[in-house]
Amino acid sequence: MTETEPIIIGTWKMQLGVPESIELAKKIKKGISKKGPEVVVCPSFVSLTRVADVLKKGSISLGAQDCFWEEHGAYTGEVSAHYLKEVGCKYVILGHSERRKHLQETDEMINKKIKTALRVGLTPIVCIGETLEQRQDGDTNSVLIVQASAAFKGVELNVDQQIIIAYEPVWAISPSPHDMQPEQTIETNQVIKQHLLDIFPQSIVKNNIRLIYGGSVDSTDAASFIALENTSGVLVGGASLKSEEFLAIIKSVS
Ligand code: PGA
Repeated sequence: MTETEPIIIGTWKMQLGVPESIELAKKIKKGISKKGPEVVVCPSFVSLTRVADVLKKGSISLGAQDCFWEEHGAYTGEVSAHYLKEVGCKYVILGHSERRKHLQETDEMINKKIKTALRVGLTPIVCIGETLEQRQDGDTNSVLIVQASAAFKGVELNVDQQIIIAYEPVWAISPSPHDMQPEQTIETNQVIKQHLLDIFPQSIVKNNIRLIYGGSVDSTDAASFIALENTSGVLVGGASLKSEEFLAIIKSVS
């Protein structure tokens, strides 16, 4: 893996049930060309096994939208990173702002989840980003630094492990009326990259960590985000729910 290989990740959030997820996975698999960016889809937990069956022998990878920090035990309702691995997941989204907001996920929880995901062999897609209020108060950079520091506290990566960091300004995630222009992420990306160099060895930052963007990305701007020096991909919510639009995003960066 190098920084130059783009990755397109679709997260279906709690928007599609099992039959709809199977349908969408089939359409994306059918429409995708052999050459192009790495593509990942992240259905809901209950759809993972069925979507995994659809994606078999194809080039699209499977991701989950969360996992628990303990690997086994009496934790009603939680999902072990082991089970995700068992059903074929390669990636797991962690620390999404919707979970921070609605489920009170803390940086400490996210840090534990990242360690567990790495331990079982999943690649974490770690979301960080400021709220509109924090941006208006001029706190964007410090929020990103605090979130990244907390997320990666005590995390050590070996050369075989990878992390994806998704910079997702909370205020730009749909259905927000606000949109982030690609060039607006140049500074924040630099801040994140610089901070990563304080945490991890330079070679790890270069070869094992990819920075991507998420927040209302669609086929009109995905390529402009990815064209930026420090952006290696996009995390797409709403625009990944329709096969034509998601395929158009993939095509636009191919
Ligand atoms: P969106 O979601 O593309 O619908 O804004 C992105 C995300 O939440 O990761």
